[in-house]
Amino acid sequence: MDDTTHSRRALLRFLAASPVLAASGFAQCVLADEAALASAADALDVFEFEAMARKIVPPAHWGYLASGVDGETTLRANSSDYARWQLKPKRFVDVSKMDLGVTLFGTHYKSPVLLCPIGSQRAFHAEGELAVARAARSRDQLQVVSTVMSMPIEAIIQMRGAPVWMQLYTTNRFEATTALVKRAQAAGVPVIAVTVDLPAGRNTETASRLRREDTRTCSNCHQVGPTGNPTGGLATKPMFAGIDTQGLGQTSPSLTWDFIKRLKDITTMKVVIKGIEAREDAELAVQHGADGIMVSNHGGRALESGRGTIASLPEVLQGVAGRIPVMVDGGVRRGTDVYKALALGAAAVGIGRPYVWGLASFGQPGVERVLDIINTELRLAMVGCGARSVAEINAASLIDTRRL
Ligand code: GLV
Repeated sequence: MDDTTHSRRALLRFLAASPVLAASGFAQCVLADEAALASAADALDVFEFEAMARKIVPPAHWGYLASGVDGETTLRANSSDYARWQLKPKRFVDVSKMDLGVTLFGTHYKSPVLLCPIGSQRAFHAEGELAVARAARSRDQLQVVSTVMSMPIEAIIQMRGAPVWMQLYTTNRFEATTALVKRAQAAGVPVIAVTVDLPAGRNTETASRLRREDTRTCSNCHQVGPTGNPTGGLATKPMFAGIDTQGLGQTSPSLTWDFIKRLKDITTMKVVIKGIEAREDAELAVQHGADGIMVSNHGGRALESGRGTIASLPEVLQGVAGRIPVMVDGGVRRGTDVYKALALGAAAVGIGRPYVWGLASFGQPGVERVLDIINTELRLAMVGCGARSVAEINAASLIDTRRL
C-alpha cells in the first residue's frame, strides 16, 4: 500500500469514528472502502477478491456469476464437501525442491490448476478473456474458454501465446455445432470439452433476482438475449458469427450418447466430456470414446440438491479405471482443495468464479494473483504432506472423516 492510500484510509477511519457521520451511514461506506484492495498484490486469499468484485460488478452481471440454481444447495456442497477430507502430514521429507507441473494430453503446464470456462467475461472486465489469457500465459497454466466467450477465440489464443481448450455447448442444430467445432479446430484448439449437464433448462434464481435489482438499462451497453441472459444472446457472441442463430438453442434436450461419436467424426481434437458425476456415466463415457472427463456440475448451476463434485470424483474414477484422465471443477477455493482432488486421483483441477473475481477486481494482475495464491497454498499443502511433485500426491495423505 503506498503512502497516499495509507493516509487516505487513516483519514477515512478517523471520519468514520465521528458519531454524527456514523449515524448518517457514512461509517458503513468507509467500512466498504476499507474492504477494498488497493492492488491485486494486497489480496491474502481469493475471498478478498470476491468481496471487491461484489462491489464493483453491476448487480445483474454479479448475479449471473454468483448464481446457482433454486436454493443453491449444490452450489454450497461444491465447496463444503471438501471438508470431508483432512490432510495427513508426513515428516522429514526433503521438500527443498517442489514441482507443481502436470502434463495433459502431451502438453506440460506449470500447475495442475486450470481456468474453467466461464462465458461473457467482458461482463466483468473490459478486457475479458484477453486479460485472462495474458495471466494464463505469464503463469503457464491451462485456460479453457467457453463457447459463449466474449472475445474471438483466435485473439485469445494469440494473447495466450499457446493453444487453449474450448468448452462446447452442443446446440440443438448439428450444422451449427459443426461450425463451432471446425472453427475451434482451425484456431488450434487441441481439446474440446463438451458440456453435457444442461440438457433442458435451469432455474438460476439468484441471477433472476439480482437482474430485478439492477437499475441500469442493459441495452445502453450491450444487447440482451431473449432468455434474459444479462450478458446477451448467442447472436452477440463471437463464436456465432456467421451462424444462423434464429431458433438456435445453446443445448439440446434430445441428445443421447451417440452425440459423442458424431462429434468425434467431425474433429481430430481430443474430446473431454464435461459434466459427468456418476460411475455408470463414466463407464459409458469411456465406451463411447471420450478422451477425458471433467467431473462437473456446472458450478452448481445445473441440477439442484446434488453432491459436491469432490464427492462424485471417487466413483467416476472407479468407473474410468485409469483408462482416461479425469479432472474436476466446482467449489475450489483453496490450494488445499486442489491438493485433496489430486490426492483422490484427479489429473487437474479447475477454478472458475475465483479467477473471475480477480479479473473483475484488477484485470490480468487480479487473475495472476488468484493463481499465485492458490498455487502457493497448494505448494504448502504438498510441503506439509511430503509430496514434492503432483505424482507424489496420493490418497495416503488423506483422512476421510466419514470413515473415522
Ligand atoms: C454458462 O456456462 C452458465 O452457466 O451460464
